[in-house]
Amino acid sequence: MRVGFIGLGHMGAGMAANLLASGHEVTVYNRTPGRAHALVARGAHAAGRVPDACRGEAVVTMLADDAAVEGVVFDGEGILGSLGRGAIHVSMSTIGVALSERLAAAHTNAGQRFVAAPVFGRPDAAAAAKLFIVAAGAPDALDACSPLFESMGQKTFPIGNAPPAANLVKLSGNFLMATVIEALGEAMALVEKAGVDRHRYLDFLTSTIFTAPVYKTYGELIAERRFAPASFAAPLGHKDIRLALAVAETLRVPMPFASVLHDRFLTLLAQGGEALDWSAIGQLAAKDSGQATAS
Ligand SMILES: NC(=O)c1ccc[n+]([C@@H]2O[C@H](COP(=O)([O-])OP(=O)(O)OC[C@H]3O[C@@H](n4cnc5c(N)ncnc54)[C@H](OP(=O)(O)O)[C@@H]3O)[C@@H](O)[C@H]2O)c1
Repeated sequence: MRVGFIGLGHMGAGMAANLLASGHEVTVYNRTPGRAHALVARGAHAAGRVPDACRGEAVVTMLADDAAVEGVVFDGEGILGSLGRGAIHVSMSTIGVALSERLAAAHTNAGQRFVAAPVFGRPDAAAAAKLFIVAAGAPDALDACSPLFESMGQKTFPIGNAPPAANLVKLSGNFLMATVIEALGEAMALVEKAGVDRHRYLDFLTSTIFTAPVYKTYGELIAERRFAPASFAAPLGHKDIRLALAVAETLRVPMPFASVLHDRFLTLLAQGGEALDWSAIGQLAAKDSGQATAS
């Protein structure tokens, strides 16, 4: 397919590379142009402006947050004013449900199609085309996107016709992951203060009844105190809990754990954790219990 790709950060760079490797004709745009060089060297076309990435059948966005997506879509020279009739905006960033509703309506009014396709998996999974993609949109649009999804992910889960449903599922998933990180941090702080080795403790957990990848991945990062460089930066994790709470407020669904996690991220950011991985909230319980942070 002829496809534009906007947002070449930790995730987007690997995803765009996989589109290229699968033979798609890819035009890349990034706010900081230098990040496009490696992809251009591998055969991507460089777009100097957003409209130059909107000339194909689809344009993918993989941007940090709602503000970034709003800017790239709605600004004067944005996607909305540039994408052809019938072409598809595939939004793969983790954004809020309300923004997804706005995007769906705006693209429909402009005669374009909109698919929300947020992803599960960290940058290593993005680079290896092993993402799990949760996709929602009109069936014809989802069908048209399937060659793109096959190039970037290991499995796609169609979740319905209404794009915001995919964003809701993604936010619920990140809320669950953050609860695991916080719970692991508390449990490890507890046993370690009594003298149990946290690495042996984690080995016990992940070899018995906590065998899911989320326990292994985040348990290892917490046990090794390996929070830098960030693969998923703490401000983005904070953003996801904020967005989960926002939709919970709209739907009147109390989520007390999410409120606690929101405060945990605030604590991390207030204490200088801006550049750390979001899993660094898993170290707060150890700090609160007076334990040294060094391994
Ligand atoms: N990292 C993960 O593990 C992970 C996993 C699943 C989902 N996600 C989600 O995927 C999205 C991207 O995450 P990431 O880790 O790749 O983030 P990242 O490395 O921080 O990259 C963010 C991208 O957004 C661009 N951007 C930020 N603000 C912008 C603005 N105002 N206008 C235009 N472009 C802007 C950045 O451009 P510059 O290069 O110019 O800064 C960069 O291309 C986020 O929604 C995140 O929640 C991340």
